[in-house]
Amino acid sequence: MRQIKKAVIPAAGYGTGFLPATKATAKEMLPIVDKPIIQFIVEEALASGIEEILIITGRHKRPIEDHFDSNVELEQNLEEKGKWELLELVKSTTKADLFFVRQAYPKGLGDAISQAKSFIGDEAFVVMLGDNILESDVPVTKQLLDLYEVNGAANLAVLEVPQAETDQYGIIEIDQVVEGFDGDVFSLLDVVEKPSPAEAPSQLGIAGRYVLTPKIFDLLENLAPGKDGEVQLTDAIAALNQTQRVFAKRVEGKLYDVGNRMGYVDLSLQYGLKHPETAAGLREYLIQMSQALRGEDN
Ligand code: G1P
Repeated sequence: MRQIKKAVIPAAGYGTGFLPATKATAKEMLPIVDKPIIQFIVEEALASGIEEILIITGRHKRPIEDHFDSNVELEQNLEEKGKWELLELVKSTTKADLFFVRQAYPKGLGDAISQAKSFIGDEAFVVMLGDNILESDVPVTKQLLDLYEVNGAANLAVLEVPQAETDQYGIIEIDQVVEGFDGDVFSLLDVVEKPSPAEAPSQLGIAGRYVLTPKIFDLLENLAPGKDGEVQLTDAIAALNQTQRVFAKRVEGKLYDVGNRMGYVDLSLQYGLKHPETAAGLREYLIQMSQALRGEDN
């Protein structure tokens, strides 16, 4: 079994959850304090041992390519002014081995992933959703890759989600708990895209990270549109599970869906509380703010 070295990051969506900010730019470029969303994802990939990354883009996504390229003019300017720390920061984004392909029509996540077929070839690979940031001790992608080393199978990262929110996630139906993983690894009976709380087979939702086998591309090719009229990756994974076992791992981590406004604000605050330049000030501000808000409530 070969080690997985390739990741695919779908980042082609319109970003309608962030209009008007995303009218002319990519939602993946919106900053969390000072770092664009896409950089968090690329950093997680590199920290997990991934060496080549394909980003699936679309129109208005050029800033993503530019962000990971050099900016000679800016670098010269910083050098002349002796701003070495900033220079290092600017240069640090050029370290990843990135490839880009455009999805011509946004027909859904499954269709976006199928654009990666020739890049991936005949190897297992990782999918990291471009609007899901996971905070964890061990990168969540690494947690999945460690499991792949053991079972050589397709593996999904899952997290417990509130019953009322099952209609925002792919939800797994557990077949069996796999022994030897502290009750955190399951074989799948099925996986369903965004079921209503009443129909959800569990509260374990897909947390934006997947290890997939290349067989997924054949299945995506013949897949009819599913939920919301889109070609759903979740449906292809359900089909994959019919011929090759698919597993899910309850990962250690917290998911921020920065594709929606609340997830974005939430992570911005959490990250701001850790950022050396904002941590102390923001903490003080939030304490005062919560006291003031409590006062308003009483
Ligand atoms: C996508 C997937 C879903 C997954 C979710 C995680 O949905 O289709 O299965 O659970 O991401 O955020 P989206 O949120 O892009 O609509």
